[in-house]
Amino acid sequence: MSNHILISSKIKSFKKQIKVSSDKSISIRSILLASQAVGTSKISNLLESEDVMNALKAIKKLGINYKKKGGSYYIDGYGLNGFNFNKNITIDAGNSGTLARLILGLLVKAKKKIKLIGDKSLSKRDFSRVIKPLQLFGVKIKSRQKRLPIEIIGNDFLRPIKYNENIGSAQVKSCIILAALNTPGNTILNSKHSRNHTELMLKFLKYPIKIQKKKNTEKISVSGLSQFKAFKYIVPGDISSASFFIVLTLLSENSEMLIKNVNINKSRNGIIKILNKMGANIKLKNKKIYNGEEIADIFVKSKNNLYSVNCSSKLNSSAIDEFLIIFLVAAKSKGISKFKNLGEMNKKESKRLDLAVKFLTLIGIKVTRLNDDINIYGNPNLTLSDNFEIKNFLKDHRIFFLSCIAALTLGGKWKINDKEAINTSFPEFLKILKNVGAKIN
Ligand code: S3P
Repeated sequence: MSNHILISSKIKSFKKQIKVSSDKSISIRSILLASQAVGTSKISNLLESEDVMNALKAIKKLGINYKKKGGSYYIDGYGLNGFNFNKNITIDAGNSGTLARLILGLLVKAKKKIKLIGDKSLSKRDFSRVIKPLQLFGVKIKSRQKRLPIEIIGNDFLRPIKYNENIGSAQVKSCIILAALNTPGNTILNSKHSRNHTELMLKFLKYPIKIQKKKNTEKISVSGLSQFKAFKYIVPGDISSASFFIVLTLLSENSEMLIKNVNINKSRNGIIKILNKMGANIKLKNKKIYNGEEIADIFVKSKNNLYSVNCSSKLNSSAIDEFLIIFLVAAKSKGISKFKNLGEMNKKESKRLDLAVKFLTLIGIKVTRLNDDINIYGNPNLTLSDNFEIKNFLKDHRIFFLSCIAALTLGGKWKINDKEAINTSFPEFLKILKNVGAKIN
């Protein structure tokens, strides 16, 4: 079976309404929290992608049953640490940093040793960021240079910790919060801003968690060992998946798109702020609040004269997974766009900052880089006609999506390898693209 796609024409003008896949961060969190609730939770509109299916397989290995009925998932929880599992089990987190790092937080009381593994990309990523705080709780961890595979064995006598999370990583913050659920006393976390779905979900579950906003950080205090009841949750659309369609529309001619029911939580909406600063005029319609999360329909129109941005690094965490596609807009905008402190991009599914520089250079855009800062010299007249092949990107889903959008908006003849990368977060990606009018072989 061929594992690549070919794109050799730009997309024609379109006016469409679409729905993108469900939010990956919220899907994984809803499964993990349902595994700790008392009773059967019902999760609807769950993202059915590999990362999320690996979360379901993981809780199943830990003795939590689930079934799918009528499009919803029913997960049977037995309360905090209500796991029941065999000796020497291995949990495979696949490609998912979120699953791997968050589930470690739930294993702090595991009586038997558990091995955590992942795919080639995940096995290259840093786990010292979660190993350090987990050891402070009293957990025993063995690893190969602070990377996967990791062996964890929990402790019955955990102690609450005080911790400064200064990377701005929601995965680290959430790992600590989940560990705190199983730990007596108050765990206190001073955390740099990052996506806050774990906190919002625990608040919705009436869990005793307190959040005090400070200037650049949040003080989060979690009181451990409080049980919570099973719940119902309908997962909204993922802004990270929507971002590729937002940019497809923006950079196409004479087109419009309405993307229905997307989570636009302030800790995630950096892309809209940044693109609007560049002249995009993206509108949010039918705004509503759902269990603490903000949801809206995103309306976007094509725009010819976009201009460069001097992007404040304060927006980095709220757009961390979207910079690849934001850079494509910068490539088509007038002037020099500046982005700073994006080192975290190199800690993702692939070294995204390095690959972004390579990608932009490949399509003829000048980029200068100083450590983790980059300047992109935009060219509003950029159109392509050469042949391009995209390969060796560690099957990073977002590099695949970026390449498709570049091909469909800039022209040229593209061979894009490893199409199965879409299954990580957005299995419907190519189908939706075709419905919008893309010609893909
Ligand atoms: C995620 C947090 C972010 C993000 C990732 C999903 C989450 O990672 O890049 O795709 O669901 O918590 P970091 O926490 O490492 O910044």
